[in-house]
Amino acid sequence: MSNRVFFFDTTLRDGEQSPGATMNLQEKLRIAHQLEVLGVDIMEAGFPASSQGDFESVQRIARQAKSIQVAGLCRCMDSDIDRCWEAVKDAKNPRIHTFLSTSPLHMKYKLRKDPEVVLQMIEAGVRRCAGYTDNVEFSAEDASRSERDFLCRVVETAIKAGATTINLPDTVGYAQPQEFADLIRYVIENTPNSDKAIFSVHCHNDLGLAVANTLAALSVGARQAEVTISGIGERAGNAALEELAMALRVRKDYYGLEHGIVTEQLYPSCRLLSMTIGQPIPNNKAIVGANAFAHESGIHQDGMLKNRETYEIMTPQSVGRNESNLVIGKHSGRNAVRNKLDSLSIGSLSEEQFEQVFNAIKALADKKKTIHDEDIEALVVGEVYRMPDSFKLLSVSVQSSTENMPAIAAAAIEVKGEVKRNAGFGVGPVDAVFNVIAELLGRNPELERFAINAITGGTDAQGEVTVTLAENGLTATGRASHHDILTSCAKAYVDAMNRLVRKEKDENY
Ligand code: KIV
Ligand code: ZN
Repeated sequence: MSNRVFFFDTTLRDGEQSPGATMNLQEKLRIAHQLEVLGVDIMEAGFPASSQGDFESVQRIARQAKSIQVAGLCRCMDSDIDRCWEAVKDAKNPRIHTFLSTSPLHMKYKLRKDPEVVLQMIEAGVRRCAGYTDNVEFSAEDASRSERDFLCRVVETAIKAGATTINLPDTVGYAQPQEFADLIRYVIENTPNSDKAIFSVHCHNDLGLAVANTLAALSVGARQAEVTISGIGERAGNAALEELAMALRVRKDYYGLEHGIVTEQLYPSCRLLSMTIGQPIPNNKAIVGANAFAHESGIHQDGMLKNRETYEIMTPQSVGRNESNLVIGKHSGRNAVRNKLDSLSIGSLSEEQFEQVFNAIKALADKKKTIHDEDIEALVVGEVYRMPDSFKLLSVSVQSSTENMPAIAAAAIEVKGEVKRNAGFGVGPVDAVFNVIAELLGRNPELERFAINAITGGTDAQGEVTVTLAENGLTATGRASHHDILTSCAKAYVDAMNRLVRKEKDENY
């Protein structure tokens, strides 16, 4: 058996299903590009039959992809499968990923089908996929709660009908590592023709065991791991790509497995996702959190100074946390900025996009002494990968005081070419800014979530703000970063309003 593990990334499908992680087309294309740079083998770009927007983004990603395999997800039914193929077929290496539940609970209550009927559906569905391509993956949803011998029949049927990858998900994050490894080993050993397919696992993190379960399955013969960047996904998420990649790299002595992930791209990838969906990386997050390489206690610091290996099992550089030696500032020219963008894997901008970023960097450098890599990434996400907006923030000013007085805000916003102005009050400065903008736009959305995060250290750090608004049954998350925190708040609020309007128009927001 080969010792090469294939990384299947589902950030753009399972990941995007997690609350607040919705991305627009430009953002998905950017993440898809980064997944190729990161060395992912297969990316799941979406669920084409779920909406017109999803269909279009899967199709655009498939057309943009260079050598990475592009998968689309579909239920085991003709219309879904046909739609999925239509969306992925232009990729250099397309894959159809079809699934059906196989646990007694799901078959009885969700599908309301007898096991024999489920087997027939799998056989017909996979055969239809195989009529389109040799690259077919079948997932037995809720595999970890399925009956073992029935699961073997399911897998045998799928392989016979043409599946070349068999995925056994722990859909509800219920399995325990040893138990899951036993299941995978049992299915591989007791299914006729199991050597004709690659076995895959897809683990959810409800009990915090997604990566542990994935590693357990790989150690008994699974060779594809389904993961997401930073572990985002349904409920508690999926196995985190960066954790799995580093566990396999740091403990190669133990697992003896290889993979193609460029680990130096892990941190840039997690940062990009975090900025795109507006969810900060927790400080204590393994591999990419701010504290992952920080040594606070005196004993540890002393050990580190004597020999890094006393308390460090991997270097920050190996996961892409470089102390950059190319400093960008006010006097940097186009070449230096181009080099910096290349080093951050943001090299694929058009001339017009490059100019946009260059000007934004210069404007920021006028106000902020040190421009960090994170600042540049935030500018690229904020300036380039945006859909056309209905509302544009022109200016905002705020006055607040320590006295027992309301804060006052004034804002100017361009709405369909017309400049509108408004001023008003709030309990505090953020409240005042939001009230003024909502009134100016004639809207009254509910604020569901509001978060501020300093992108880098120092009092001149850019503030990254995330705002989730809900109105008329729709919700949208906006984000923005700026060195002035109240401007960030105003921009994020306007961004959320723009996304809400796009949702109302049913555009691919
Ligand atoms: O969790 C799950 O079972 C899934 C399948 C569709 C692979 O996401
Ligand atoms: Zn899942």
